Amino acid sequence: MAEMVRKSSVDEIINHWLLAGSCILLALTGFAFLFHLDGVAGVFGGYNVMKDVHNWLGVIFALSLLYSMRHYLKDAFEYDADDLQWFKVAGGYLSHKVKVPPMGKYNPGQKLYYLAIVAAGIAITASGLGMWLMKDDATVMMYSHLIHNLAFVIFAIAVPVHIYLGTLANPGTFKLMVSGTLPLEEAKRRYPKWMKAEGRM
Ligand code: HEM
Repeated sequence: MAEMVRKSSVDEIINHWLLAGSCILLALTGFAFLFHLDGVAGVFGGYNVMKDVHNWLGVIFALSLLYSMRHYLKDAFEYDADDLQWFKVAGGYLSHKVKVPPMGKYNPGQKLYYLAIVAAGIAITASGLGMWLMKDDATVMMYSHLIHNLAFVIFAIAVPVHIYLGTLANPGTFKLMVSGTLPLEEAKRRYPKWMKAEGRM
C-alpha cells in the first residue's frame, strides 16, 4: 500500500462540502428568481418558500466561509519568489515548454481564488442581508441589488474554473475533496516545498 499524506483535515472536508453545496444551491435559486424559472421554484413549493431557503442557505454559506478562514486565510496572504515566478509562467497552463517553479501547499492561483471568494463572499452576504432585513429602505435595496449582482459575476467566473481545475484538468484532485489524502510520491511531486517543510522529503 502506498504511503499517504493528509492534505485536508476532516473538518476542512466537511466545511468545503457545506461551502460548495450552499454556493451551488444559492446560484440555482438565485437564477430561478432572476429568470423566473417556475420549474425550479415549483421544486421548493413556490417562490416564497424558495426565498426563505435562499436566505438561510446564505447564512450557511457565510458561516462556512468564515470557518474556512482558519484553513486558508494565512496561506492566501503569503507569496514567495517561486510564487511570483509561477505568475510569470502562468502556472504552466499556457505552455508545456516553460519551467514551473516548485510549489508549497497551495499555488498562487488557489490563493488568489480564495481571496476573490472571500471578497465576493463578504459583498454578496452583506448585500443579501440588506435586501433581507431592510426591505423598506429603497436606497439600501437599490445598492444591495447592484452589489449582489456584481459579486455574483465574480462567483460565476471563478467557481466554474475552480471546479474544472479540481476535476477534469487535474485528474485525482477530486479525491482531496472526499478523503483529503493523496499518495506521498504524488505529494512530493506536486507540493515539494510543503513536503520539505513537513520533513517528508
Ligand atoms: C462542486 C465542485 C467542486 C470541486 C470538485 C471542488 C474541489 C476542490 C478541491 C479538490 C479543493 C482542494 C484543493 C487543494 O487542496 O489543492 C478545493 C478547495 C477549495 N474550494 Fe472547492 N470544489 C468545488 C466547489 C467549490 C465551490 C462551489 C466553492 C465556492 C465558494 C469552493 C471553494 C473552495 C475554496 C475556497 C477552497 C480552498 C482554497 C483553494 O483551493 O483556493 N469549491 N476545492
